[in-house]
Amino acid sequence: MNKVISVVGARPNFMKVAPVHKAFKKYSSEIEHMICHTGQHYDEKMSKVFFDELELPKPDFYLGVGSASHAEQTAKVMIEFEKVLIKEKPDMVVVFGDVNSTVACSLTAIKLGIKVSHVEAGLRSFDRTMPEEINRLLTDQISDYLFVTEESGIKNLKNEGISNGKVFLTGNVMIDSLVHYLPKADQSDILQCYGLKEKGYVLVTLHRPSNVDSKEYLRELIELLNVISNERKLIFPIHPRTKNNMKSFNLDGLLGSNVVLTDPVGYIDFLCLTKNSELIITDSGGIQEESTYLGVQCLTVRNNTERPVTVEMGTNQLIGTDLKRVELAALDILCGNKKSGTVPPLWDGHASDRITEIVADKLK
Ligand code: UD1
Ligand code: UDP
Repeated sequence: MNKVISVVGARPNFMKVAPVHKAFKKYSSEIEHMICHTGQHYDEKMSKVFFDELELPKPDFYLGVGSASHAEQTAKVMIEFEKVLIKEKPDMVVVFGDVNSTVACSLTAIKLGIKVSHVEAGLRSFDRTMPEEINRLLTDQISDYLFVTEESGIKNLKNEGISNGKVFLTGNVMIDSLVHYLPKADQSDILQCYGLKEKGYVLVTLHRPSNVDSKEYLRELIELLNVISNERKLIFPIHPRTKNNMKSFNLDGLLGSNVVLTDPVGYIDFLCLTKNSELIITDSGGIQEESTYLGVQCLTVRNNTERPVTVEMGTNQLIGTDLKRVELAALDILCGNKKSGTVPPLWDGHASDRITEIVADKLK
């Protein structure tokens, strides 16, 4: 029997591991699949809700690292994960995405001679001031098998000298979850709860340090949301980083009455909000992909994206960080000028089947 440990730590990891965990069940006579949660995210609404809604088992290992500086958080994950690996001796570790837990666990595993698979490999923003870009570059360099969501990833890995034989274009596991849970999302009552009309509101998420860690820029973002809220109702499920910054910068209470500020919402409700919104304003990685799949208008308030296919083929627009430009683009969309889009290749709900088939073959 082979043993595989998948590692998750932060919100965007949970919807990625869920379909992979389900797909491993097909191989249960040959592969034991376990889940390790590092505890990078730990609030009920950033963590447990996803295990419940995505029908994930309680993690086999919980490292409880919590929040800290980059070095401290990464180091704590490594120290705790090494103990798990020494005890469990898995044949492979699977890491997801680009968070600190991803690089910490891939580095720990590879140094113990354990094979590493990276799901969502090859994405590049080419912006090394982003912590995620450093995590992506390092994880890809040391991984044995790299599972890629879009063509740009194949090109990026080739340019970085990673051998072809390690790289597989398998599609997008985040879309596997979306496809699976969309019928449930259609049953959500979140629109009624907040008095939102189908295709009649704007959904906002903001959490990138480059957007929310500066007091002045965060204040300008709040003003922008207030201007847009003159046209449509906004719903803004706020990330803990942004909430904490609003409080410490004394920006609480500045949002207008047509902006519904909520805690982070669960996955099913969030899918419902995404699907039915007229426009999304975000700096999230995953939401650029989900909006493209659903054909929903998305303005990404960043100067670069590691997911260029969402702009080239999808409904995402990389609008930059000049907020006057964001305002004009948002108002234009709300006037009916919509970008059309198509779904990227292999974003079909079966990426996890392809990944687990390759893993099972490699472990033989
Ligand atoms: C992390 C990831 C980022 C990802 C995001 C998804 C890294 C470097 N960053 O950013 O790539 O897009 O998750 O949401 O891995 N906090 C809480 N409760 C929690 C978790 C965090 O209050 O459950 C607060 C803490 O004050 C913490 C801050 O949020 O210091 C930031 O958390 P952290 O995990 O360091 O980074 P994120 O901004 O969440
Ligand atoms: N999400 C959610 N509730 C929220 C905000 C986001 O369930 O209140 C989901 C969203 O649908 C997507 C994922 O969280 O699947 C994206 O995570 P996040 O934006 O935190 O991280 P990123 O993708 O930017 O790393």
